[in-house]
Formats: sequence, structure tokens, C-alpha cells
Amino acid sequence: MQSLINKKIVLGISGGIAAYKTPELARLLMQEGASVQVVMTEAAQQFVTPVTMQALTGNPVFTSQWDNSVGNNMAHIELSRAADAIVIAPGSADLMAKLSLGLADDLLSTLCLARDCPLLIAPAMNKQMWEHAATQRSAERLSKDGVTLLGPASGFQACGEVGMGRMLEPVGIAEQVIAFFQKKTLLGKKVLITAGPTFEAIDPVRGITNHSSGKMGFAIARAALEAGADVHLVAGPCDLPTPLEATGRITRTNVVSAKEMHAATLAATNCDVFFAVAAVADWGIAKPAKEKIKRNGKEAPNIEFVANPDILLDVAKAVKTKGGKPHPYCVGFAAESTDLEKHADEKRKRKGIPMIVGNIGPDTFGSDLNQLLVIDAAGSKKIAKAEKLQLARQLIQLVAKKI
Ligand code: C5P
Repeated sequence: MQSLINKKIVLGISGGIAAYKTPELARLLMQEGASVQVVMTEAAQQFVTPVTMQALTGNPVFTSQWDNSVGNNMAHIELSRAADAIVIAPGSADLMAKLSLGLADDLLSTLCLARDCPLLIAPAMNKQMWEHAATQRSAERLSKDGVTLLGPASGFQACGEVGMGRMLEPVGIAEQVIAFFQKKTLLGKKVLITAGPTFEAIDPVRGITNHSSGKMGFAIARAALEAGADVHLVAGPCDLPTPLEATGRITRTNVVSAKEMHAATLAATNCDVFFAVAAVADWGIAKPAKEKIKRNGKEAPNIEFVANPDILLDVAKAVKTKGGKPHPYCVGFAAESTDLEKHADEKRKRKGIPMIVGNIGPDTFGSDLNQLLVIDAAGSKKIAKAEKLQLARQLIQLVAKKI
């Protein structure tokens, strides 16, 4: 699935060593379907060449406001009129200062001043430069002027220092550009999500788990963030990166067992929507061994199980009413071998929740694709087979209408 189809992006590059990552960003934006028009400052060309950017984007690169290849000699007007957004990566301290003051002394700064489209900047600089009062003033002014700042991140810097000012990785910038274009239907809302499997220890090295990859829950977390929500993701053992981490709007709590997931989730129910996506083990081990169980001949050990708490049921029991609507609005998930609609709806009623989402198998576990059956008191609605992120976006829109 491409999330930037028909989007025209002007990719501005200013002079900073992080410019070596901008070709990768251009490729990621194009892979998502965007057309990319690069504009470079003079200093940027010391770090990456226009030839590289032209070869990657398939478009001639603009570097000067005096370029007479543009019909009316007004590249600064023409380029922004055609664009859905200007994305600058890296954004140097100098460029940010200029833009915050409305200065326009080269093509990129003139283009930004003359624009009638959103501007997103990924700052990149040494930590002292970032922390300098002047740069902080620029950042604050730009934010007040409606410019979206993507990062910066903290970490190892090209100059050898460690601290705030690193440009976000291209993947993180691309994710945020994609998020920028999504509908903001959950702005200011808090969303709690359980995702992934749980792991029930038998002894320190063995345990019982299931095939849940966590992909659906993580996709819902990303879609909720894209829609503007603050997200708390309670994740069982799965090896997935935290979505849109650099937004600072996601908290991730990693848990192992169902009991841990129950405790972490119940402590976070002060939210507007709860998605129970995790494949929680129904039974835990009554007395996990403290040491590895020895094989001791051929006899298999007898393992005693105990029922795990039902997280969704317990959250649903704590639901209050706010503005005549259930708060939090609880959404369960169901994977059934037979009669999906019937069994899922029974589950919805038994758990006392307004909505349940059936996974229409058979290839949901671990796959990037899924298809869903969304069931509430009014009936059911199928969301056709698609990538999990696309399904998650549709589900978020449905839920946003309910709250
Ligand atoms: O009860 P059952 O496992 O069939 O229901 C599935 C739904 O309940 C899912 O939304 C799942 O995340 C949630 N669940 C839970 N805690 C459990 C078992 C299931 O939150 N112990």
C-alpha cells in the first residue's frame, strides 16, 4: 500500500552533514507514491550533489532563484503552488533562523516565504547549536507560525558528541510525513492498546505462547497516532519497532505474561478508547519452576494450569458513562475457527463491549494482510482484505465516529 499517492512534495535540503541521509528519504517518499522535487541550498551541495538527487527523483534539481529554466523566472512561486507540502531535511540552524524571521535570500528560503502549502522541517545540528537560545527561539517561532518540526532526536552526532540535535532517521521522517496527511479524527484523545502474544513461563527457559505477531495492534497504534491521538501501547513479547516514536505521543509498556499485561493495562484505563488486540493466553502455569526442570528419565512433567484474568472483561467492567457514551469505548478482537460473526457477537455481549472485530482468516497470524468483520449492536460491516495499516486506518475512522 502506498500512503502518499498523488502527493507532490518539495524536498528542501540545507547545509548539514545529515544531508547524506536525504537521498534515502527521497526514495522512501517516492516508494509511498509521492513525486519529489528537490531544492538545495548552496551549502547543501557541499554534502550531497544535485546529480544524486536528480538521478533518484527523476526531476531536475533547483538550486538558484536565478534559474531561467522556469518559464516566468519565478521558481519560488511555481514550486510551492504545485506542492502539497515542503519537507526540509536536514533543516540547519541557519535556515531555521532565517525562516523564523521571514528572511528570503536564496531559492529555498524564498520558496518557504512564498508558499501556500504546509512546511515540515527535520532539524539537524550539533547539540550546542540546537540548545542555543537563538535556535530554541527559532524553533518556537516556527512552531507558532504553524510549521511542523519533525524531531530532532537525541544520540550520537557526526561531530563526536552525544546529545539532542540529530536528524530523525529517514524512515521516521517519512512516517511522520505520511501521518501529517492523515485525517485528524482523534485529536486530543487517549487510546490504550494491547498487542502481541503473551508468554507463560513453565520454568526459566521454557514457556507457552502463541503465533500472534503484534502487527495488527501495532498498526492500530500507528493509525491512532496518525489520527492525532496519544497512545499507550501495552505490548507482549514481539520484535516490532514502536510506531511514530519521535512524535513523543506514544508510551510503550513491554510485558511478558498475561498477568503483567493485565496489571499494566488496568493501570492505564484513563483513556477514551481501548483496543484489546493482544492474543492473551487463556491459561497460565500454576507454579512456574524457579529452576530449569530436569528431564529425569522419560517421564513427562504434569503441568498445572490456572485461568488468566480477562483483561478486556475487567476494563469493560470499569467503564463509566461520559456525555451519554461509554468511556472508554472498548473494542475487542476475535479469531474464531467457525461461525465468526455468531461467535464474535456472542463474545461482544458476554464481555459487555460495544464493538468487536473479527479476524477473517485464515492467514491473519504474522501476515501483513488481514480482513476484518466489525460488529456492533447495529450489525456487521466487512473491511476488505488489505494491509493491516490500511485496515487499522479504516477501523480508527469507524471508532472515531462512535466516540
Ligand atoms: O475471550 P477471548 O480470548 O475469546 O476474547 C478475545 C478478546 O478478548 C480479544 O480482544 C483479547 O485481546 C481479549 N482478551 C483479554 N484478556 C484475556 C483474553 C482475551 O483481554 N485474558
